[in-house]
Amino acid sequence: MYFDTHAHYDDEAFDADRDELLSSLPEAGVTLVIDPGCDVSSSEKAIALAERFPHVYAAVGIHPEELGGMQAGDLEKIEALCAHEKCVAIGEIGLDYYWDDTHKEEQKALFIQQLELAIDHDLPVIIHDREAHGDSLDIVRRCPDVRGVFHCYSGSKEMAEELLKRGWYLGFDGPITYKNARKAIEVLEICPLDRLLIETDSPYLSPVPRRGKRNDSRNLRYVTEKIAEIKGLTAEEVAAAAMENGRRLFKI
Ligand code: NI
Repeated sequence: MYFDTHAHYDDEAFDADRDELLSSLPEAGVTLVIDPGCDVSSSEKAIALAERFPHVYAAVGIHPEELGGMQAGDLEKIEALCAHEKCVAIGEIGLDYYWDDTHKEEQKALFIQQLELAIDHDLPVIIHDREAHGDSLDIVRRCPDVRGVFHCYSGSKEMAEELLKRGWYLGFDGPITYKNARKAIEVLEICPLDRLLIETDSPYLSPVPRRGKRNDSRNLRYVTEKIAEIKGLTAEEVAAAAMENGRRLFKI
């Protein structure tokens, strides 16, 4: 049984077959999914999907890439959405200096505001950290009451050690199956089995052998098999651990 803790089924890439695909997941062994929102509209869509599909849960938040499109009142709307019974986290939120390194202060402010929202509502967070490891770590150090996952973890082994010590979970996705995954594999080697989550980030980041195609939660098995190989365990053991970890962190 698989728990995909990060899949954007609200994305337009799924417009043609969203219902059919989501309905088919439990039979394919994917019994839980979290759809994280990236702005108000996608957070609303994630909640709507969670209302319709018993195995789907939502997270709500404003992704750093959506900073430019924000309107007055958006954070209040996110706060209202997070009270929904199937909203299990604030996310995806964080910093992305790969996409835009000219609005770092605005990104940091938005990130911190949403971490505070998570504290106020006693929710975990789903963090996006791309090329912003130093500032991301600095901010979570300053917010010791927040817990959650560094989604598609791409930082150093040293940063991972500190995050693990602070109680964070690390998310692993399709890129661990790519040829250049040396750094992520080093991190996996030190990540205890009770702190990892397995994600697809669908429709993005398809693992080998599906790389380049649209991703969906059924491909979680390729990521799981790769982790099992690195850890010297069976895929079933890894999937079971990740399921338990996800249920513990997101209180499902
Ligand atoms: Ni994502």
